[in-house]
Amino acid sequence: MKRLLLPFPAQAELARQVAGPLHAPVGELTWRRFPDGESLVSVDTAVADAEVAILASLRDPDSLAVALRLASDTARELGARRVGLIAPYLGYMRQDQRFAPGQAVSARSFARMLEQGFDWLVTADPHLHRIGALAEIFSIPTVTVACAPLLGDWIAAHVPAPLVIGPDAESAQWAAAIAARAGAPWQVLRKVRRGDREVEVSIPDVAAAQGRTAVIVDDIISTGRTAIAATAHLRRLGLPVVCVAIHAVFAAGAYEDLLAAGAQRIVSTDAIAHPSNAIGIGALLAQATAELLDAGPPTPIRTDT
Ligand code: R5P
Repeated sequence: MKRLLLPFPAQAELARQVAGPLHAPVGELTWRRFPDGESLVSVDTAVADAEVAILASLRDPDSLAVALRLASDTARELGARRVGLIAPYLGYMRQDQRFAPGQAVSARSFARMLEQGFDWLVTADPHLHRIGALAEIFSIPTVTVACAPLLGDWIAAHVPAPLVIGPDAESAQWAAAIAARAGAPWQVLRKVRRGDREVEVSIPDVAAAQGRTAVIVDDIISTGRTAIAATAHLRRLGLPVVCVAIHAVFAAGAYEDLLAAGAQRIVSTDAIAHPSNAIGIGALLAQATAELLDAGPPTPIRTDT
């Protein structure tokens, strides 16, 4: 079955990296806003009988959600056999439980919403903490790509005498894998979050850090408060600091604040397009998508249009 990759505008560059190894041409999908804020989505390449992969990184998912649904519905109406989503960054995964009475469990609701529009999902390192695997919240086939080896390789190639630092307990899974790949020691900071934007940390073994470059690794930098607190703490101990993240979410001002806190360099994968991108994951996404598509449709191909 012929394949077609339909990137949302922000993923035009990443689409070029995915298209080749996926053996899928890049089609045209346009998205613009009417003056009142409503979305107009247009699928401008023929999709009849194609296996369509929509490529959209879900940073700012509220603004994307409706456009995504319009895109998948339109591709189906125009004859696509299946429509899947390559979401290098999958938003909303951190709110995976009701932290206070009455709160939405966004990860589960968002998953339900996405699977109404898509037949399958490929993503990179979703933030899974209390939810063990995407299969717990999605009933469509999902494949996740692990970026830790690429981060480890980047650190080994660019940072002399690195000490990999996980800024909190949740980052231990990434820190351990990245450090192993980089052949570096690692530690996890003790973290106390005092509010949306207030975080305190401390390194458990100061002596072992001496003479090394601290490489803070995390799956997501969002407000930057976690990385900023870690950077400030490590700078106070006199260590040079490099920050390496998988998902460069960077809420307004976070990138500049992290540089101002003393990070010598900030590096991210291109899962979310950002000036800090230095590690390409297009080939990994393509490989995972190809494997999923080659495995054939685990659910009946939809013929309803
Ligand atoms: C938390 O568990 C995550 O791994 C990140 O450390 C966190 O989401 C980063 O958020 P922020 O940049 O807002 O501190």
